[in-house]
Amino acid sequence: MNSVLKNKNIVVGITGSIAAYKAVEIIRLLRKKEAIIYPVMTRAATYFVHPLTFQTLSSQRVTRKMFKEEKKEIPHLSLAKLADLLLIAPATANIIGKIANGIADDILTTTVLATRAPVVIAPAMNYRMFRNPIFQTNMNKLKTFGFKFIGPEKGVLASGEAEIGRMVDPPRIVKYLEKVMNSLNDFQGKSFLITAGPTREPLDEVRFFSNYSSGKMGYALAEEGISRGAKIILISGPTFLTPPAKAEFYLVESAKDMEKKVMDNFSKVDGVFMVAAVADYRPEKRREGKIKKDSQKELTIKLVQNPDILKELGERKKDKILIGFCAEVENIEEEAKKKLKEKNLDLIVANDITLEGAGFEEETNIVTLIDKNGKIEYLAKRSKREIAVKIWDKVKNLLEKDIS
Ligand code: CTP
Repeated sequence: MNSVLKNKNIVVGITGSIAAYKAVEIIRLLRKKEAIIYPVMTRAATYFVHPLTFQTLSSQRVTRKMFKEEKKEIPHLSLAKLADLLLIAPATANIIGKIANGIADDILTTTVLATRAPVVIAPAMNYRMFRNPIFQTNMNKLKTFGFKFIGPEKGVLASGEAEIGRMVDPPRIVKYLEKVMNSLNDFQGKSFLITAGPTREPLDEVRFFSNYSSGKMGYALAEEGISRGAKIILISGPTFLTPPAKAEFYLVESAKDMEKKVMDNFSKVDGVFMVAAVADYRPEKRREGKIKKDSQKELTIKLVQNPDILKELGERKKDKILIGFCAEVENIEEEAKKKLKEKNLDLIVANDITLEGAGFEEETNIVTLIDKNGKIEYLAKRSKREIAVKIWDKVKNLLEKDIS
């Protein structure tokens, strides 16, 4: 069977690490899969392996410099444009730091900044550098933007210590590239509605009830869905985030507004991710003007229940995919299973907000996925974008199972 990598243009960036010798094997394996390889080397990389090795293996000139006077087009733009996939292996802390901070001072960094292709990064470095919070921040920032990381893993490093920092072995990197390529546009032709953020329930003209939801999980799901070819309708309560440019975006305030927008769009989509933290209650009425404190010593506000949007969707679901989210403080699995059933969902994503690294305003999350067949999957702490990848993978799985 042909590999998904066959005839794909893959730019392979090699940076200055001893693991550069393993890039030789990566390129050999990729060539066996009939991929077209464009090697790019940083100056430091050329101290470890001679460019001629990569040139011979790839049958392609190795790009090392940014400016070529004899050519009309600047090579970094042509490489950025032609790439179906960009791999950096090995990737040093330095290159990751540069990319994370928008620096484009050589051919590799400019190509990364200019490309629309997915970028896969296989880091290799000493564990002290890996554990440095500066590096960790840079890596997490890139993950949030959708850069894909494989490794590093634990093993004997160049320093002789058995620690984290070793680049993942070439066959696994190649397998991962196949997985990334397979997931490109795997939701082409499908549309999904995603709700995100909090709702605001007005009390008077200046005040409202709300919650701590930041919208990050819903926006990460929207970004990931778009990158995989899905059409996304994003209906969001107020957040500080910038909506993805390619999403059909609606800003709403109250649960009632959200309900209306969701119902108006439900027939157009194949599924709904109900990520928003919808307020369960709202003040019975929104008062005119402003409630003044001098006219009353005590204030009692009567709250009435909001519609449960997801439950309503569950009642009219038919063959659409429904994904619910829940934030729990105890008995997570039990509570989540109960909601999955009550709301007629295909999948529920539960998080324990008492854990560090999970919850509303965090960049990371720790979640448990429970599907309608009772399958439970626990995802340890990772960025919300990485969780989004896993959730979309799971949805793909559910869709395929429904077809077969
Ligand atoms: N949800 C909804 N409409 C509401 C409340 C919640 O659509 N009025 C959706 C949320 O978007 C989420 C899921 O339902 O996908 C959460 O279920 P819910 O039972 O409301 O969870 P909690 O709010 O955590 O419930 P409780 O506070 O009762 O545990």
